[in-house]
Amino acid sequence: MAEQYDRRRFLSTAWGWAAGLVVAAGAWTTWDVLKPGPSAGAGPVRTVGPEDVPDTGVLEVREMSGYLTKVDAEIVALWWRCPHLGCKVPWCESSGQFECPCHGSVFNRAGDYRRGPAPRGMDRYGTTVEEGFVVVDTSAITNGPPPGDESIDEPPTGPECIQGSEG
Ligand code: FES
Repeated sequence: MAEQYDRRRFLSTAWGWAAGLVVAAGAWTTWDVLKPGPSAGAGPVRTVGPEDVPDTGVLEVREMSGYLTKVDAEIVALWWRCPHLGCKVPWCESSGQFECPCHGSVFNRAGDYRRGPAPRGMDRYGTTVEEGFVVVDTSAITNGPPPGDESIDEPPTGPECIQGSEG
C-alpha cells in the first residue's frame, strides 16, 4: 500500500515538474521571438549618400537593421523585423519582394503588405539627409501601412525565395 502511495506521489511530482518545464520553455520561446531587434531605440545611423540608394532595388544596411530604397524619388528606410513575430525579412532578388521565411509573409519593395499572417506592411524608420548622407533614426519607428492598396505597381518579377512558393 505504502509502495503504491509512493509511486503515485512520485508520478504526481514528476508531472508537476514536466508541466513547469513546458510553461518555462513556452515563456522563454515567446520572449525570445517577441523581444525587440537590436536596432530598436538605438538612435541615428549615418548610412550612404542619397545617390547610392537604389531607385528600383533595395540596399541592405546592417547598421540600421534594415533596407533603404526609393519610392517616387523619396528615400524609404524599412526595418527588417517582420511585423508578424519578429523574424528578419530578407529581400528576394528573383521575385523582387521581401519574403519572410518564418511564416510566409510577403511585402513589396516599398514594404507594403502583400500576403501572409503579418498584420501590416513593414515598419519604417525616420530619415533625414545631413551633410550628404542619409541619416536613419532607428529610434523613430512608425508602423507599416495596413493591408490594402500597394503604393507601387511592381508585381513579382520571378520565382520566390521562400520554400514551397511559386512566383
Ligand atoms: S515572423 Fe514573418 S511571417 Fe511570421
